Amino acid sequence: MTEQTPVTEEKSVKVPALPDAQTVTEVKHYTDRLFSFRCTRPASLRFRSGEFVMIGLMGDPDPKTGKQKPLLRAYSIASPAWDEEMEFYSIKVQDGPLTSKLQHIKPGDEIILRPKPVGTLVHDALLPGKRIWFFATGTGFAPFASLLREPQTYEDYDEVIITHTCREVGELTYGRDLIESIRNDAMLAELMGEDFHKKIRYYPTTTREESPKMGRITDLIRSGEVFEDLGIEPLNPETDRAMICGNLAFNLELKELFEEAGLEEGANSKPAQYVVEKAFLD
Ligand SMILES: Cc1cc2nc3c(=O)[nH]c(=O)nc-3n(C[C@H](O)[C@H](O)[C@H](O)COP(=O)(O)OP(=O)(O)OC[C@H]3O[C@@H](n4cnc5c(N)ncnc54)[C@H](O)[C@@H]3O)c2cc1C
Ligand SMILES: NC(=O)c1ccc[n+]([C@@H]2O[C@H](COP(=O)([O-])OP(=O)(O)OC[C@H]3O[C@@H](n4cnc5c(N)ncnc54)[C@H](OP(=O)(O)O)[C@@H]3O)[C@@H](O)[C@H]2O)c1
Repeated sequence: MTEQTPVTEEKSVKVPALPDAQTVTEVKHYTDRLFSFRCTRPASLRFRSGEFVMIGLMGDPDPKTGKQKPLLRAYSIASPAWDEEMEFYSIKVQDGPLTSKLQHIKPGDEIILRPKPVGTLVHDALLPGKRIWFFATGTGFAPFASLLREPQTYEDYDEVIITHTCREVGELTYGRDLIESIRNDAMLAELMGEDFHKKIRYYPTTTREESPKMGRITDLIRSGEVFEDLGIEPLNPETDRAMICGNLAFNLELKELFEEAGLEEGANSKPAQYVVEKAFLD
């Protein structure tokens, strides 16, 4: 009997089926196109809030060889650097090679997570300022979900303005819920003072479904409406810093507006007044 004990114990140890495997711990669906999930964090993974990593699943077996290759895509880490777990906020593209499968993950499943974080949406790439703007469309909210939970954001700035433009109201849910949870987060309040959340100004807008604030943020900047609504001065290179994450056309339009206002683009190697990253490739 005693000889059999080690065999039983060995069987109960879970062997990862994937390279760089992490285990899914929670999945939440928001719309038929959006979901978020949490997974375990590799013990050695260090990253700066706002960075992205490559994640994925094994692809289908090659019809000739039967071999499977990892199918990986860039994903912003939506959780902050101090979190014990990792969080991601994802699109579901019905015929997308990765997300047509990824949307079906459940707690206990494994995903691949390559532990090499990179990215430009980091505090190190910005010069000191008074007010930070986070400009997002769609899943471009993900890096800001990380930075909104990063204590340095509130240490470095007096005001934190997050704008999120989506087509429909339901697409704002993840961001809205997250900001609500930050406002009630006892741990962040203990770390940064009870009033830290008063620095957050949340400015959600929709473009294709009725909501309290309609329109593309780019148009609301051009017309001056966003500054009027928030009761603040227009963009000023002395005081304002910005991070942008959306589709390519959105990023380019905002870059043009910032350059017109006298802000310069920064990078890890050369901090300046604003930084940009694509939320997806096209
Ligand atoms: C730096 C970077 C960070 C990224 N971070 C995220 C993230 O945090 N969350 C996320 O969902 N995606 C993110 N993406 C996009 C992601 O890499 C994949 O494109 C996405 O997961 C879809 O993969 P797929 O294989 O299903 O389809 P793909 O073949 O990759 O894409 C198919 C088409 O779907 C559309 N699409 C792809 N991604 C999105 C999106 N996020 N929102 C709207 N339309 C999209 C595009 O039109 C694209 O051509 C990021 C991309 C980059 C470059
Ligand atoms: N969201 C959906 O319901 C839906 C459904 C089916 C398929 N898709 C496809 O999925 C892809 C991504 O859709 P998405 O809605 O996630 O992302 P998206 O097309 O990037 O739109 C997200 C938000 O950004 C706004 N926006 C787009 N370009 C902009 C610019 N240059 N300046 C300022 N704001 C801008 C959009 O406004 P506008 O509405 O004014 O463009 C929308 O409110 C698209 O190819 C789309 O055809 C989307």
